Amino acid sequence: MKKVLVTGGAGYIGSHTVRLLVSQGIQVVVLDNLVYGHPKAIVDESVMLVNGDLGDAQVVNQLFSEHSFSAVIHFAAYTYVGESVENPLKYYENNMARPLALLQAMQRHGCRQFIFSSTCATYGEPQVIPITEQESQTPINAYGESKLMLEKVLDDCYRAWGLKSVCLRYFNACGASEDGLIGESHDPETHLIPLILETALGKRDAIKVFGTDYDTPDGSCVRDYIHVDDLASAHYQALTYLQEEKPPLKCNLGTGQGYSVKEVIEAARAITGKEITVIEEGRRAGDPAELIAAPSLAKQELGWVAEKSDLHHILKTAWQWELNRRY
Ligand SMILES: NC(=O)c1ccc[n+]([C@@H]2O[C@H](COP(=O)([O-])OP(=O)(O)OC[C@H]3O[C@@H](n4cnc5c(N)ncnc54)[C@H](O)[C@@H]3O)[C@@H](O)[C@H]2O)c1
Repeated sequence: MKKVLVTGGAGYIGSHTVRLLVSQGIQVVVLDNLVYGHPKAIVDESVMLVNGDLGDAQVVNQLFSEHSFSAVIHFAAYTYVGESVENPLKYYENNMARPLALLQAMQRHGCRQFIFSSTCATYGEPQVIPITEQESQTPINAYGESKLMLEKVLDDCYRAWGLKSVCLRYFNACGASEDGLIGESHDPETHLIPLILETALGKRDAIKVFGTDYDTPDGSCVRDYIHVDDLASAHYQALTYLQEEKPPLKCNLGTGQGYSVKEVIEAARAITGKEITVIEEGRRAGDPAELIAAPSLAKQELGWVAEKSDLHHILKTAWQWELNRRY
């Protein structure tokens, strides 16, 4: 049976991926320092949760001594764009420097397969929509830059010691598991869909729409929303890819279709049956009008397509989760 180390597996996207891997017969060890993770997000008893930091060389080396991992899936990171602008060193430290201890342990112990949670934020403000992997990568914040730096570290490790990696550049992760057992729980929450649903529940007074004068059909920003279970299946397919004699891969994970902020709010009103109060504000710095993925490379190389990312399913699962949150 294959054994995989998942860093950040107690977080939002990591926990959904862990469940999928277990359902496919893969043994999973999660390394998470629980700064943002939730032990309750690990629902399968077979999964070993190690409460530790991926930058702690002693912890990481011990894990590799005790287990024979065929691959590492690396989700662990800080993810707040605004905070990364105010405190860039915190982001370079956690997202770029600490993973070096993990990579050193992999090199020492002969583990050469790595799947990395990268992001569309590495593209900055793209020139061409939909965004292909050929788009220049010019991040506009330390979060995106820290992710791009790690992508480059992985390229060098491939050249130097044959580390094979798949960098998955996610667009907007959303939704929750169909059985409602796990879902999105960030504190503070900054993602649009949970904020809208918290407003529907009365936990917030209103949802703010930043910018209504963009060059988009209704003036609000357009984003590519991808269901977290679709992201999870891409990681499973990336594990298969890594077993084949193929070069490292960097690809987008999105649907190729965008929804505006106002469209998402309207769809949420329909699903929740609640009036959701909106406050229109000015544009935020660094918010491009549209971010939509060209997803064809992931289809071609991984055989992956988004199957659960229609807006109705995303909102239905997210709403079910919001109504019965376990953590
Ligand atoms: N959520 C999105 O829309 C989105 C989009 C693009 C990329 N990503 C990337 O996907 C990954 C997962 O995002 P998420 O939304 O699930 O975030 P999350 O905060 O829910 O999960 C991250 C997990 O990593 C853990 N962690 C952080 N630093 C650690 C460290 N040094 N050692 C051990 N554990 C540590 C946290 O405790 C948390 O459980 C991140 O790398 C993020 O940058 C997310």
